[in-house]
Amino acid sequence: MVTLTINGVVQEVNVPSNEIPMLWVLRDIVGLTGTKYGCGIEVCGACTILVDGSPRKSCQMSVNEGVGRSITTVEGLSPDGVSHPLQKAWVQLQVPQCGYCQSGMLMSACAHYNSGSNGDGIEIDNLCVCGTYQRVKQAIQLAATL
Ligand code: FES
Ligand code: FES
Repeated sequence: MVTLTINGVVQEVNVPSNEIPMLWVLRDIVGLTGTKYGCGIEVCGACTILVDGSPRKSCQMSVNEGVGRSITTVEGLSPDGVSHPLQKAWVQLQVPQCGYCQSGMLMSACAHYNSGSNGDGIEIDNLCVCGTYQRVKQAIQLAATL
């Protein structure tokens, strides 16, 4: 058992092995499937979560690294899934294409948003094979105004 704080909720999580990456703990044990698996080697960013407010690729993060930290997944952006300014901007600008990378994009964007960035000059290193980068940047700028 490990104690994790996920989306503001402190919970005991029955983790069979500390070798299971945080991504799979979140998806398969906690049931938060918004965080996606892409490459598994910290390249694509589909698995991005926030750990104490900083973006972190959960596919190569150990469970123990999350103990005592505040973990935020895409489900934690807002209670209703639509009311966070980034979510509103994402909808308004129709950012996603296939959508697979977008939860990771949102979490990386959230780190910028929370830092007070207006989106100018930001760099997000998440990969999107559909090429939504331009709309992602526009949505981060729009969110700062909402
Ligand atoms: S699945 Fe973690 S970076 Fe690609
Ligand atoms: S929207 Fe398809 S991979 Fe990004």
